[in-house]
Amino acid sequence: MKYDEIKQILKKNPLRWLITGAAGFIGSNLVETLLGLDQEVTGLDNFSTGFQHNLDQVEKLVSPAQWQRFSFIEGDIRDTATCAMACEGQDRILHQAALGSVPRSVADPLLTHANNITGHLNMLVAARDAGVERFVYAASSSTYGDHPGLPKTESVIGNPLSPYAVTKYVNELYADVFNRTYGLDTVGLRYFNVFGRRQDPHGAYAAVIPLWFSALINNSTVYINGDGETSRDFCYIDNCVQANILAAMTMNKNAVNRVYNVAFGERTTLNGLFSLIRERVGQKIPRALDAAPEFRDFRAGDVRHSLADISSAMGCLGYAPQFSVTQGLDQAAAWYMAYLK
Ligand SMILES: NC(=O)c1ccc[n+]([C@@H]2O[C@H](COP(=O)([O-])OP(=O)(O)OC[C@H]3O[C@@H](n4cnc5c(N)ncnc54)[C@H](O)[C@@H]3O)[C@@H](O)[C@H]2O)c1
Repeated sequence: MKYDEIKQILKKNPLRWLITGAAGFIGSNLVETLLGLDQEVTGLDNFSTGFQHNLDQVEKLVSPAQWQRFSFIEGDIRDTATCAMACEGQDRILHQAALGSVPRSVADPLLTHANNITGHLNMLVAARDAGVERFVYAASSSTYGDHPGLPKTESVIGNPLSPYAVTKYVNELYADVFNRTYGLDTVGLRYFNVFGRRQDPHGAYAAVIPLWFSALINNSTVYINGDGETSRDFCYIDNCVQANILAAMTMNKNAVNRVYNVAFGERTTLNGLFSLIRERVGQKIPRALDAAPEFRDFRAGDVRHSLADISSAMGCLGYAPQFSVTQGLDQAAAWYMAYLK
């Protein structure tokens, strides 16, 4: 089924959704889209890397009647009772809560493990016990690890290059076993560098796109780790939201209990990305056009190149990404210019 058809069906027959990590970047965008479709949505978050202001923004973007359908639990997925309470009565779960960032996991692997593996397992147990119909979860392109092949196809992975990558691979293994052992329907989405509105530009572990928008808008230095020829398949947030809703709603039995790449399917180098962001900021702030990046050492745990084969998601889920990297950057630029001004 096509995304538009699914959205029509959801509007006519609303479901109950639990979004973990709802105050974060991807989670808050899922909340926004689902409330916009008149769904009953529960958010769960402990505000470790998420923010109340993300939820406040969503409130302003939906109607009062839609916002009435949102309830929020401030809680931690490391706590089994919280997970059980949150899963009760839900039709679908979109599990996004985790500690992102490769360098954070290198600095504190125990913390990343507890949130990303124990938390994920707690959520699977709670979803199973509550009889939830489908459990869609955030996996990661970091699972491809040191495998050099491009584009990345789901069945061919290498060795993980960071504790974070281990946790995201273990998420897949647990989801698979929960399907085989308990019959829980799961779908894993291997996100490839998602970007867009509400991705946090602050802090030591900020992702490259918000970090560079922020640096260029505020006239501070842009650092490139390595020679700038490192490449990524940057994926605009609306494509990622689409993949989640398709995965949660597919009726194709062969499409569930699998993992999918979620990306646009195009590779951009960091040098290329810098030019694209500078060009967009420069349209409003001309001095940004003179900015030049400063190069520094490669970062431990980073993969060199990343590019997704998205044919599985397209074929099995009907995924059709609507935003290219440049179209997504146009949207993101408008948002960061308003947000960081
Ligand atoms: N953004 C990307 O490019 C990307 C790429 C691959 C995978 N992912 C995965 O997508 C998911 C969402 O990432 P994001 O970019 O929105 O990050 P984010 O940090 O903005 O969102 C994560 C949210 O989870 C919450 N959280 C963390 N630990 C929690 C816990 N123990 N209990 C309850 N809430 C908790 C945080 O407070 C935050 O609001 C994560 O699982 C991440 O690993 C993201």
